[in-house]
Amino acid sequence: MKARLFLSTVCLTAAVSLSAQKSATITLQPDQANEVIPKEIYGQFAEHLGTCIYGGLWVGENSAIPNVNGYRTDVLNALKELKVPVLRWPGGCFADEYHWMDGIGPKENRPKMVNNNWGGTIEDNSFGTHEFLNLCELLETEPYISGNVGSGTVEELAKWVEYMTSDGDSPMANLRRQNGRDKAWKVKFLGVGNESWGCGGSMHPEYYADLYRRYATYCRNYDGNQLYKIASGASDYDYNWTKVLMDKVGRQMNGLSLHYYTVAGWDGSKGSATNFDNEDYYWTLGKCREVEDVLQKHINIMDQYDKNKHVALLLDEWGTWWDEEPGTIRGHLYQQNTMRDAMVASLSLDIFHKYTDRLKMANIAQVANVLQSMILTDGDKMVLTPSYHVFKMYNVHQDATHLPLTIACDTMNVRDNRQLPMISATASKDNSGKVHVSLTNVDLEKSQTVTINLADMKLKKATGEVLKAKNISDYNSFDQPNKVVPISFKDMKLKNGLLTVNLPAQSIVAIELD
Ligand code: AHR
Repeated sequence: MKARLFLSTVCLTAAVSLSAQKSATITLQPDQANEVIPKEIYGQFAEHLGTCIYGGLWVGENSAIPNVNGYRTDVLNALKELKVPVLRWPGGCFADEYHWMDGIGPKENRPKMVNNNWGGTIEDNSFGTHEFLNLCELLETEPYISGNVGSGTVEELAKWVEYMTSDGDSPMANLRRQNGRDKAWKVKFLGVGNESWGCGGSMHPEYYADLYRRYATYCRNYDGNQLYKIASGASDYDYNWTKVLMDKVGRQMNGLSLHYYTVAGWDGSKGSATNFDNEDYYWTLGKCREVEDVLQKHINIMDQYDKNKHVALLLDEWGTWWDEEPGTIRGHLYQQNTMRDAMVASLSLDIFHKYTDRLKMANIAQVANVLQSMILTDGDKMVLTPSYHVFKMYNVHQDATHLPLTIACDTMNVRDNRQLPMISATASKDNSGKVHVSLTNVDLEKSQTVTINLADMKLKKATGEVLKAKNISDYNSFDQPNKVVPISFKDMKLKNGLLTVNLPAQSIVAIELD
């Protein structure tokens, strides 16, 4: 990571002082507002990996940890507040070794399996289809089921769909009734495999395209349930995968997925989640922002085959990936979450909002105790991470109309001459007419005076919240769970359609205007 030196700052604004205070200008363009930000951009992902499910979401009805039908009460309440629109399950790589029939019926009869992808942990299948879909009902979340193509059969996946969604006198619906659930669940999102180029079967795109067509054919729409079928997509820079899938599958899929992690590299250390220097920090933000270039390239390919945007792009895994915390189990991907991760979250969401004419879903990895988590648990203790707070501060943008904007600000050279803007922002208008502007100052030292031209929107009142920490490597621990939490923000003035904000160094600010 150290080799990618950042060099100097480049001034884009007309007037930049040499003091610790900088300035930037943002102009909102409500006349160019055409897209609604789908709430699914705020999607989450829960895999049978480490303590994401067991310990994180689920402790079982007989646990001493307070729970509602086996789901941790504290986590349930925190997720309700977050407004999770969609939850992807059971993987990830786990999905392509998961046999759903092992996870239904009386718990004592459910067979165990080895979780080969994630540390060889023994999976007892006590959290299965009923436990997942009932959780989604409690959270008022749309389930996103990831089906097994790598090691499962067409029949197995077809029967799973029938089990979950058929309300008729069909064999699988009757089996579900026998297991205590009379009414079918509604399941919209169905992933046909995961990372089929890797842990999901090591396939070539041409071969997977044919398999997708075959599996998808037998996944039926039962009794008013309408499946939205998602093909397993590319990783990062694999543009050929997208090209082949668009060519060979086309409109037989509703969506095509993509995975992009903010990760230092696969060869050796990914770096510590908490122990990093300024250079690592700026490098990380450069890598995070590179997702924009990657999205544009995949979208360009999709546009060539599908001008009218019938097939959506779904970034169904994204987020930071650091070395596992020392002392934790290898393969469980447990990492801490600092103010740097919060910055990755806000910068990424700002970018995603710009591409929602094609990008219809994004799922951060993962909801609890794995990678860039919203929530960390340890026994009966729970902490909300800085990333959780960003998702909560940003949830006002769900289903709101995106307001495009331009930013003039300083940039910094990071990662072999790529430009990192010091200010990131996004804005939207909700159904009640309220405008929300989210601002991030990535500069570690300098605050910024940001002047926002609100156009002619007749906004009279501004209130705000800020997330910042003393150090960029600060995090919430079980001993200090409230070290990085949002507080009220007042350092701004609204006059004559101009909002002037004094944006502290290394901060994320959410402003509501009406
Ligand atoms: O999120 C962890 C893993 O990352 C997922 O299981 C897999 O799809 C990806 O490689």
